[in-house]
Amino acid sequence: MKTILITGGAGFIGSHVVRRFVTKYPEYTIVNLDALTYAGNLENLEDIENAANYKFEKADITDREAMSNVFDKYGITDVVHLAAESHVDRSILSPMDFVYTNVIGTVNLLEVAKNKWKDDYSTHLFYHVSTDEVYGALGSEGLFTEETRYDPHSPYSASKASSDHFVRAYHDTYGIKVVVSNCSNNYGPYHFPEKLIPLMINNIINNKPLPVYGDGKYTRDWLFVKDHAIAIDLIFHEGTVGGTYNIGGFNEWKNIDLVHLLCDQMDEKLGRPAGTSKQLITYVKDRPGHDRRYAIDAGKINRELGWEPSVTFEQGLSETIDWFLANKTWLDNVTSGAYASYYDNQYASN
Ligand code: NAD
Ligand code: TYD
Repeated sequence: MKTILITGGAGFIGSHVVRRFVTKYPEYTIVNLDALTYAGNLENLEDIENAANYKFEKADITDREAMSNVFDKYGITDVVHLAAESHVDRSILSPMDFVYTNVIGTVNLLEVAKNKWKDDYSTHLFYHVSTDEVYGALGSEGLFTEETRYDPHSPYSASKASSDHFVRAYHDTYGIKVVVSNCSNNYGPYHFPEKLIPLMINNIINNKPLPVYGDGKYTRDWLFVKDHAIAIDLIFHEGTVGGTYNIGGFNEWKNIDLVHLLCDQMDEKLGRPAGTSKQLITYVKDRPGHDRRYAIDAGKINRELGWEPSVTFEQGLSETIDWFLANKTWLDNVTSGAYASYYDNQYASN
């Protein structure tokens, strides 16, 4: 029977993955390991925290002894690795944090898995959850495929690219079974409001300026987080060992168009006159090294595993806004304290 270590399970995507595995596979034991950094929040998992097959360990993936102890304590059979520093703007401010967690933390976990599983690698899987940002930036044409050459530009994407390479190196060198997926931008419930969509939702609620970087024509491919969790479940169980899967929403939006859509939907839901929130839009200085466009060709996972997004963007966004409006306490809790100082610093000079 599987005992799966899910790292970063108290974060945004991790909490959806933990919830899916805990509820869909009662026969598995799910160990959520998370350092509970500013981005980790056990409130994200309140609904499943008492499930019989759910365990939580507060630990740092860079701590070798702690990882070794967790593998021994539970008899970990598989890893789904999501723990990471995940925000590009923070990586520009503090790149070393990204090297420690994303690179050293990943290699540390791989080392522990290599040692603990050495009797028979064939019965264990190390799944690395990664990003499409490793591929760099597209111009107005084309899509990232699994064959696209790595060309990361931000400290965040460079650290994720490095960790992807290490995961594949442990497969090629030591024979550990691995799989990697590279996903586009996620959105949905529990999204930390430093990222574009939840930041804009939070600011619209609070009538604060909506900071759009540069000319606002940067393009991202958005995927509802629950569809990412479904894809991870499929790849974990049916993906080709040693393989890579790109995951995306077939859903490209220029940032400014997306902010307009959010303003329209929120004005309606908040009962404000149409056009009210758009007045909050403020163009601010651009992000250094800002990637112009990301867009994923998710054809491989569709052909091989039959995956495709289950909700439209309009449905997913509407569900997301409703969730944030219904969870004001969650939003207030995560935006107090440390978030407030980060926000003041990040947007101060605009
Ligand atoms: P997040 O920042 O919301 O959550 C990260 C989690 O990792 C937090 O719970 C945090 O406490 C934990 N963590 C951080 N450092 C740790 C450490 N040293 N030891 C243990 N735990 C630690 O991130 P997210 O958006 O949920 O992303 C999860 C994963 O998915 C990341 O690996 C990210 O690169 C990848 N990803 C994210 C997106 C996206 O749009 N958010 C898209 C594709 C891939
Ligand atoms: P973000 O959510 O940080 O994701 P990523 O940089 O990993 O794609 O940003 C999404 C896009 O939105 C990106 O082009 C930067 C832009 N952006 C803004 O214009 N204003 C903001 O306040 C933030 C956080 C992002």
